[in-house]
Amino acid sequence: MAISIKISKTPQSRIHLCDFENIEFGKIFSDHMFRVDYVDGKWMEPSIEPYGPISISPSLSALHYGQAIFEGMKAFKSPNGKPLLFRPMDNVRRLNKSAVRMGMPEIPEELFYEGLKKLVEVDQDWIPTKDGSALYLRPFMFATDDFVGVRPSLNYSFIIFCCPVNSYYPKPIKVKVEKKYVRASTGMAGYAKAAGNYGISMLPTMEAKKDGYDQIIWTDGKTHEHVEESGTTNLFFVLNDKLVLTPILDGNILEGITRDSVIKLLKKEGYEVQERDISVSEIIAAAKAGELTDAFGTGTAAIIAKIAAIGFEGHDYVLPEAEQRKVSNWVYNTVYQIQTGKIEDPFNWVEEVK
Ligand code: COI
Repeated sequence: MAISIKISKTPQSRIHLCDFENIEFGKIFSDHMFRVDYVDGKWMEPSIEPYGPISISPSLSALHYGQAIFEGMKAFKSPNGKPLLFRPMDNVRRLNKSAVRMGMPEIPEELFYEGLKKLVEVDQDWIPTKDGSALYLRPFMFATDDFVGVRPSLNYSFIIFCCPVNSYYPKPIKVKVEKKYVRASTGMAGYAKAAGNYGISMLPTMEAKKDGYDQIIWTDGKTHEHVEESGTTNLFFVLNDKLVLTPILDGNILEGITRDSVIKLLKKEGYEVQERDISVSEIIAAAKAGELTDAFGTGTAAIIAKIAAIGFEGHDYVLPEAEQRKVSNWVYNTVYQIQTGKIEDPFNWVEEVK
């Protein structure tokens, strides 16, 4: 099925206002957005239109009951100036998994994919090329019924907009093991990229920030003894620069696409990677014994976020200096250079937008 997209370009590009040398994450938006509405059981005609405010009603059901999901993706420029996408179909499929969990309609894969490619093509001049930068793409879907009864909405909007960005964390982060609040537990929506999963992280993160941390490490909802993910990334721990541990996908954590890429690249490089339950106590014991040589978060926005220190029960366990991190330095360079088309892409993850 060919997708026909109505394109209305902005009469006045804002690109000259963007200082590509000093971009703050998530504050600058490119000229256009892709939009398609779901009305009474059908996806309507999609369009690319100038980025700008949308009109919503105070009774918009997404605002009241949280039927809202999103994805994070990035577009890069290849050395010869072509726009590149990284594993886009994995984001398409994950959005639809989130949609099912939240009682929302799935978007036809081709509609999402074609809209995304067209938007990146139209706004390709906004893809920054400075080392570490990218055009962050934010696809999201939300319920649009004007109705305050509690039931799944009948109408939805799906939008993609773009922001030129640099790295999400400009320096290694301090994380605190969270033992009071819970992000997800069995049967909840932990694996979904649902807006509410991020909403509930705001207070615990604010409290951690007051104590001098940048982020929290969520632990399991039943015992608080097992590591899950951070507020913005999946987590990896490296013992003696050899053994790499990452929490298993148990339904409670996000099925990160960067997480999956890192696992595959490390295994290919010969590292032993274990996806399993990881107890807080084994990570702390390894840190005490000097065996925790590296720890990092993975995500689309952050790519690789090195962990500088882990706070647990009032003590900070400090990790080796960033330059000494064998695994996270290697994996960051490898992922980013694959994403930007600078080195061979052994798993065929990168797609050129034609
Ligand atoms: C992403 O990495 O794309 C996310 O959605 C996390 C958020 C911190 C931006």
